[in-house]
Amino acid sequence: MTALFTPFTLKSVTLRNRIAVPPMCQYSAVDGVTNDWHRAHYASIARGGAGLVIVEATAVTPEGRITPGCAGLWNDEQVAGMAAIAGAIKAAGAVAGIQIGHAGRKASANRPWDGNAHIPNDAPDGWQTIAPSALAFGGDLPKVPQEMTLDDIARVRQGFVDAARRALAAGFEWLELHFAHGYLAQSFLSPHSNRRDDQYGGDLDGRGRFLLETLAAVREVWPQHLPLTARMGVIEYDGSDEETLAESIELTRRMREAGLDMLNVSVNFTVPDVKIPWGPGFLAPVAKRVKNEAGLPVASSWYIGDPQVANQAVLDEQMDLVMIGREHLADPHYAFRAAKELGVENPFAILPPQYGWWLERYR
Ligand code: NDP
Ligand code: FNR
Repeated sequence: MTALFTPFTLKSVTLRNRIAVPPMCQYSAVDGVTNDWHRAHYASIARGGAGLVIVEATAVTPEGRITPGCAGLWNDEQVAGMAAIAGAIKAAGAVAGIQIGHAGRKASANRPWDGNAHIPNDAPDGWQTIAPSALAFGGDLPKVPQEMTLDDIARVRQGFVDAARRALAAGFEWLELHFAHGYLAQSFLSPHSNRRDDQYGGDLDGRGRFLLETLAAVREVWPQHLPLTARMGVIEYDGSDEETLAESIELTRRMREAGLDMLNVSVNFTVPDVKIPWGPGFLAPVAKRVKNEAGLPVASSWYIGDPQVANQAVLDEQMDLVMIGREHLADPHYAFRAAKELGVENPFAILPPQYGWWLERYR
């Protein structure tokens, strides 16, 4: 059987294949509430045949949104929209996942198509950002965040717990904590953005504390039989790569012991102007290292959308799941296309019969 199309089981959840749709913000919510755009978007992608569809970065507190259009699960009114999305994904035969997170100092930005830059605090749509230390990201995101107090830290950790409970109530079966991409959790871990001199800063014990505590608190409310995963940047490409990777792998080991079931391996994006070696599958060897050295299943993404490259990544045991992002925006039936290209028997069965029956006979 083609490696990419073998089922994958994590805890009590079995995916029909190794293709996962990573979280991709739609910037189309109002006050964190999702709507018809989201339901149609996720339903359409799930019908294309992926095993897992992870709903976009969903804020655990209002100030944790990247943009004013980001989805949220910080109140009960936001659950119904998410339940409709989870239902649509499951009805199409995929497993419904969701990513919850807090954007930290990268929050309060314009939607990408409105320029991506920080919105001033005194503009109607802007707000004061918070972070481990009062250090700006720079570039288009120049606002200086407020250094978080211990009360802030406890409040945001509780926000993760409450959002996890709401995600469960909405029907999601796969939870991903957003510990990546220079947002709040990643900025606690990185010495670039964390200069605290209390128990949440300093060495790996200190800088990793927010991530470990948040994971452990969420594990208490997220059922043991369902996958609890995280997305974390493990490498910055800033010249200190071996050191960053070693620390990230050590923290991943500790998170595994605290109940993490899988890591979605990504890039840090904690500082602008780094030299990322963009190219097909560039992160796959890094993912394999994390898998082997931290001893847990991994997923990864970035320019791995060519079906042959994706299949090879599974065959070479570089990753257990292949996250295919932009290719799904270009073609929601990516899994069907990949199956045809890889010579999978009866690829038409991947699509719902409303599409597959016709395409098999008359196209
Ligand atoms: P930026 O978009 O500011 O990008 C950082 C640097 O990486 C820039 O030099 C940018 O080039 C380059 N870059 C980013 N993405 C790509 C790519 N796919 N291919 C080639 N070069 C790229 O970084 P952010 O910190 O805002 O986002 C980090 C990554 O995560 C981005 O790839 C972004 O698309 C993705 N993302 C994550 C979200 C999340 O986690 N919630 C939300 C939306 C996007 P250039 O200056 O030419 O753009
Ligand atoms: C993203 N990405 C992203 N990552 C994440 O962890 N949470 C998110 O909500 C988003 N949002 C998002 C929106 C859009 C429009 C894009 C294109 C990307 C990153 C995404 O999950 C994925 O890792 C990258 O797109 C790289 O994979 P591909 O596109 O090369 O397959």
